[in-house]
Amino acid sequence: MLPKNASREEILKILEDEGGLREGTSAEVQRQTGVPEADVYGVGTFYHLLSDPDAGVRVCQGLSCQVQGCAGKMAELEAAGTKATYTACLGRCDMAPALWDPDGDPGTPEPHFSPGHPDFVIDLMGADRTTYSALEAARGNGAEWVLSELEASGLTGRGGAGFPAHIKWRGVRAQPETERYVVLNADEGEPGTFKDREVILKRPHLVVEGLAIAAHTLEAGDIYCYVRGEFGHVRQALMMAVAEARIREMIDHSAKWHFVDGHGAYICGEETALLEALEGKRGMPRMKPPYPVEKGFRNKPTLIQNVESIACLPAILNRGGQWFQHAGRTQPGSKLYCLSGHVAKPGVYEAPMGISMRELLELAGGVVGELKAFSPGGASSGFLPADAIDVAMDFEALAEAGSMLGSAGVVVLNTTVDMVDAALTQAVFFEDESCGQCSPCRIGTQILRQALERYRDEGRNPETLSYVADVAWGMKEASICGLGQAASLPLESAMQYFPGEFGLPVPE
Ligand SMILES: Cc1cc2nc3c(=O)[nH]c(=O)nc-3n(C[C@H](O)[C@H](O)[C@H](O)COP(=O)(O)O)c2cc1C
Ligand code: SF4
Repeated sequence: MLPKNASREEILKILEDEGGLREGTSAEVQRQTGVPEADVYGVGTFYHLLSDPDAGVRVCQGLSCQVQGCAGKMAELEAAGTKATYTACLGRCDMAPALWDPDGDPGTPEPHFSPGHPDFVIDLMGADRTTYSALEAARGNGAEWVLSELEASGLTGRGGAGFPAHIKWRGVRAQPETERYVVLNADEGEPGTFKDREVILKRPHLVVEGLAIAAHTLEAGDIYCYVRGEFGHVRQALMMAVAEARIREMIDHSAKWHFVDGHGAYICGEETALLEALEGKRGMPRMKPPYPVEKGFRNKPTLIQNVESIACLPAILNRGGQWFQHAGRTQPGSKLYCLSGHVAKPGVYEAPMGISMRELLELAGGVVGELKAFSPGGASSGFLPADAIDVAMDFEALAEAGSMLGSAGVVVLNTTVDMVDAALTQAVFFEDESCGQCSPCRIGTQILRQALERYRDEGRNPETLSYVADVAWGMKEASICGLGQAASLPLESAMQYFPGEFGLPVPE
């Protein structure tokens, strides 16, 4: 129980302002917030950017950066006497091997984009819209009109789960509680994914307009924008767009805008972990139900939506739900796909939902070398082999193929890649990023990583992998959240499609 008047929600911001957890910082936070020092320390140690403020330059060890030589980058920095630390995916897979210097320039992204197209929903190469005509229509036509267009559009969440947006919106509106929140999930931590970064940098007004439509329709008084900590320049771009929309009187003052930085914990992209972080706690996912639409931020009805999902709103209302529905090939809408790894032109490509992997590779200039495998939707989606190249890149077809579209972070691997190393990279990531709350995930991720290391380092004896299936079963069945449920997929799929590399019999 917190002392009366203690203000937990301030903890992370103050720790951030103090430059992270250092000698005396937790005592200072206790003085300012009334939250006991041990509690402050416990929260601060959860977040990589706060617990290790002197890590220096962060060198990404995500899969795309591994295959593009992050080890060489680290060696260069060390040779130059620069303090550097390996870190989980930095959301800069298009710039692999990527670095992030918290005290330096954010790095000028030079991603490739698909050329502009009138049938694109987001159209990163298009001019950012500042007319706010969709917001005006939402105001004029009322909430039921917005909800029915949203339903007709068939928009499903672009953050990974692919859940129908209109169900969440109706869910929030149906609550008798009038204190309601809209939360923008711009945490973008799934390895291989960097589209939300570009949406905010290139089309910030689409995001601001979408959020204003959501707050207006759901009668929410506050909009929280939670942006990953390594994306300070992205948060700035969003704040500037809000300020501009205010000056031009495109948005009114009916909702209060808040901007919150993440602090280097991948799990805070999971919506309930994100809410815990907003409330100044360790980012540990909540048990669901209740879902955030009912009991979300501060236990009040909350809409949480991914950046790309929110940015679809203006086009849906301006051009109609039916138009959006037909913009996809196999499922509604066009979709932003992030391509990195062994492709000629890493970048963000917008295409009709359900485009094949083969066509996506053509958009990205083709494979560098010969295609061996790919991850269609970030680390959580595991691997598919080269002969799956004609799979439709949508939620349904990839689920049928035993994978997932997730956040559409497509990592391409050529035949130089050892699948044992690739699976190990993902295993290390999930072990590092498990919040540790439930034992199947906390222990399972550790066992899988250890098994792979033993396999690699002790003569590639397949016996060391004999219990993988049992451990994976326990993780899938008994983990609280998607991290633990998906963490075994990279190893399992690599073993399934590349048995020879794991010492298993190769089918004729
Ligand atoms: C481990 C994990 C990490 C996630 N990371 C993100 C993320 O970085 N960004 C995001 O939008 N959704 C992420 N999600 C999905 C969110 O929980 C949630 O489904 C999403 O924000 C809802 O918005 P949407 O319906 O618009 O996709 C993650 C889920 C899990 C299980
Ligand atoms: S599955 Fe893993 S990340 Fe998710 S709540 Fe359990 S321990 Fe935390």
